[in-house]
Amino acid sequence: MHNPALRACGIDASYVRVQVPPGHVRESFGLFAHHGFLGVNITIPHKFEAMEAVDEVDPLAQRLGVINTLIIRDGRLLGCNTDGPGFLRSVREAFGAEVAELRLLILGAGGGAGRAVAVQSVLAGCRHLVLANRSADKLQPLLMELNGLAPGLLLQTCAMEPPALETALDGIDVVVNATSVGMKAGDAALLPAGALRASHCVYDMVYRACGETDLIAAARAAGARHADGMSLLLHQGAISFEHWFPGVTAPLDVMRAGLASA
Ligand SMILES: NC(=O)c1ccc[n+]([C@@H]2O[C@H](COP(=O)([O-])OP(=O)(O)OC[C@H]3O[C@@H](n4cnc5c(N)ncnc54)[C@H](OP(=O)(O)O)[C@@H]3O)[C@@H](O)[C@H]2O)c1
Repeated sequence: MHNPALRACGIDASYVRVQVPPGHVRESFGLFAHHGFLGVNITIPHKFEAMEAVDEVDPLAQRLGVINTLIIRDGRLLGCNTDGPGFLRSVREAFGAEVAELRLLILGAGGGAGRAVAVQSVLAGCRHLVLANRSADKLQPLLMELNGLAPGLLLQTCAMEPPALETALDGIDVVVNATSVGMKAGDAALLPAGALRASHCVYDMVYRACGETDLIAAARAAGARHADGMSLLLHQGAISFEHWFPGVTAPLDVMRAGLASA
């Protein structure tokens, strides 16, 4: 996605993948800066650790509580978040609706991506959110933050268990999977069989290089509209690109084609 975009924009740079062990994010950021990197995308499991390893966090990322993009400028490390704004663009494109009009159930809201999506949705005007997380205690700080952001918000929690999820789905427009479940073939199903209906929209942040996730397959079987993680990958990537190269418009179609061919 990024290499075709760099070529299309005539930028003499390349995008590479680097695997960093947990606990080494600060050290790796120092090495990236030393070796002339312009920026970095940060993914699972590093997003919280990365927040502690930068010189500055931009105001939106501060609000979202997590960074996924590093900008390296004049030796300084600036952290920002493009998952949140990317989610808004991607929902608009996939479902033809604004998040402000939708009732969302976010599975995995206690993780980095889930938290970012929850806060960004409320900032964008969403007024009905149901949050679920396997470790329920991780939702507490997020609940306080969201209540402080929008006093009129209808905010509920739901156990990550089949009966509770089935009940929660009753009053929901969009189910968002922000857990890492589905990344590996054979992961247990997140929702009880038959729980989805044609009226639901399903947004799976997970993407697989080959084939679809079980959640997307379940959405398809139910006749529900659906978007997989490729959509978010594209839009958050385009926003990252524009952070790294201010004044350059990310060539979305080139990036989309790059993703498809990869
Ligand atoms: N498409 C994109 O561009 C894009 C962008 C961002 C993220 N993502 C994807 O979103 C997912 C989450 O990323 P992240 O950065 O938020 O990771 P993270 O901070 O490590 O959070 C992982 C989340 O998954 C939950 N989880 C893990 N295993 C589970 C299981 N077996 N059952 C139920 N919940 C489980 C965790 O629950 P606990 O709190 O209980 O551990 C936590 O809520 C990843 O698959 C990532 O690839 C995709």
